[in-house]
Amino acid sequence: MKPDPKTAEDTLVWAAAQNPGPWEAHSRHVAAACRAIAERCPELDADTAYVLGLLHDIGRYAGVSSERHLIDGYRYCIAQGWEKAAQVCISHAFMLQDINTSIGTFDVTAEDYAFMKDFVAHARYDDYDRLVQLCDALALPSGFCLLEKRFVDVTLRYGFHPATLDRWQRTLDLKTYFEGKTGCSIYDLLPGAAENSLR
Ligand SMILES: [Fe+2]
Repeated sequence: MKPDPKTAEDTLVWAAAQNPGPWEAHSRHVAAACRAIAERCPELDADTAYVLGLLHDIGRYAGVSSERHLIDGYRYCIAQGWEKAAQVCISHAFMLQDINTSIGTFDVTAEDYAFMKDFVAHARYDDYDRLVQLCDALALPSGFCLLEKRFVDVTLRYGFHPATLDRWQRTLDLKTYFEGKTGCSIYDLLPGAAENSLR
């Protein structure tokens, strides 16, 4: 089960009221990018992609945290019965399916860490997981951007991690993967990405 777009939008508004921050605008742009790309992929549902993009960082409702927002989002969505959204709350941070490749701090309990490690190792990613992973790297709070702009934005905030280069490469591979489906540059589907990257 997944929420309809209106429910997901209302949920994001509620969550952002609990913990206001640029993550709300970022989430909206991720969702818009997911929708724009999914509309060009016959096997993907654009509303589903939009909803999953809107909710990927929903765990930030619980306050300022690092990787704890992944499991907070997972738990929130599971409690609503939104299983796929719950998966994306964790999977979006692991385009490489290995707990050691995320860039944040595991500000979680030992039990939650063990759960996440097992979840990431055994999750079956589909194109929705991959699409949110890609679009997470295509959206600043101020709008769409070039992947490389977001790479630097994230690295300046989180630091350079041993997995950083592999994460960048995987994200670039995802771009190529979805461009194979859309038949165009993904930037053709994201108005203002180039201009926004100049600011
Ligand atoms: Fe995000």
